[in-house]
Amino acid sequence: MTTGLGSEIVGTINKLQDVFAAVGSTSATIDLPQICVLGSQSSGKSSVLENIVGRDFLPRGTGIVTRRPLVLQLVHRAADAPKANGVAPKLNAGDDKAANENEWGEFLHLPGEKFYDFNKIRGEIIRDTEAKTGRNAGISPQPINLRIFSPNVVTLTLVDLPGLTKVPVGDQPKDIERQIKDMLLKYISKPASIILAVTAANQDLANSDGLKLAREVDPEGTRTIGVLTKVDLMDTGTDVVDILAGRIIPLRLGYVPVVNRGQRDIESSKSIVAALEHERMFFENHPSYKSKAQFCGTPWLARRLNVILMHHIRSTLPDIKQRITQQLQKYSAELVTLGGPLGDGHAGNVVLSVITEFTSEFRTVIDGSTNDLSLNE
Ligand code: GDP
Ligand code: NA
Ligand code: MG
Repeated sequence: MTTGLGSEIVGTINKLQDVFAAVGSTSATIDLPQICVLGSQSSGKSSVLENIVGRDFLPRGTGIVTRRPLVLQLVHRAADAPKANGVAPKLNAGDDKAANENEWGEFLHLPGEKFYDFNKIRGEIIRDTEAKTGRNAGISPQPINLRIFSPNVVTLTLVDLPGLTKVPVGDQPKDIERQIKDMLLKYISKPASIILAVTAANQDLANSDGLKLAREVDPEGTRTIGVLTKVDLMDTGTDVVDILAGRIIPLRLGYVPVVNRGQRDIESSKSIVAALEHERMFFENHPSYKSKAQFCGTPWLARRLNVILMHHIRSTLPDIKQRITQQLQKYSAELVTLGGPLGDGHAGNVVLSVITEFTSEFRTVIDGSTNDLSLNE
């Protein structure tokens, strides 16, 4: 899995979590904010989320495809040592070629069953959605909980949500608009939620239901990032430059324009790698964007998220440090009562040196990325 959330943050946070594990700490861990997508139906929410994760596994398409919240927990784990004979005995017969025994998904509703084939993960999301809501566009607030274990992700929660819609279709209740809104509010109201407010660029920004709802829960705009999808579908001669410059509806954290796979790409199973390459070429060659291509597309969106997560960690770090110090003092006291070695106590020294090393490394990463949060680029 090539996570869109850069290796920088993956390395930093995972090292920090490892330190906590070494201290045996359960009280001091970093709770990263969860990232939620918000927007109208078919604006491209699932596509954006999937590009950020860097693997194909979410149902996407025209109409109401995401009909229950999907709470996706990425869980970092160290890779197993490769088997001498190169055989991957854990994989299931018929798994996709991209399957790899260090990366798998597990659903809360199917305990103990490991999915190494990400196409089968998508199949199970669709199957369980239909099992709980029927096939006729029904919706349900009951979430699907999926965990993905991988050496290449940072432990983080992302939430894919149904889109805002106004007119009931199929088996949807008359008050579908209210029901979906209530469902979304449950997730985006949490102060620890980062909101990706997704709006299709070929739609009027002033009519963006996602932005409107985001403003209700985050009026200061401190945790809302605007994402403009379908930039490739805009009429010739039009662009999102004015929106990016904050001249239409300014957002404190700004907007990032992206190009996801279109419906035809989904039907032809275009790979994520090919899609990201297409996106890069689009912005680099477009007369409106080529001078600012580095601030466009999925990689830039992932960097913005990294920076926001880093700032979050930095603000929680003093508290965590204090808790670790307290625990170390407690351990030292226990060692004394046990009559164990103190000054050259092995475990204590290891932990302290890891923390010291981490602190300087973390500072480098933070200082190196602080400027990215500037509001005008
Ligand atoms: P959601 O309902 O908001 O989750 O949207 P999906 O991710 O399911 O996408 C809805 C439809 O829009 C699908 O057919 C996607 O292929 C298409 N789509 C999403 N983003 C883009 C984009 O940036 N460009 C193009 N051409 N199509 C897109
Ligand atoms: Na859709
Ligand atoms: Mg969706």
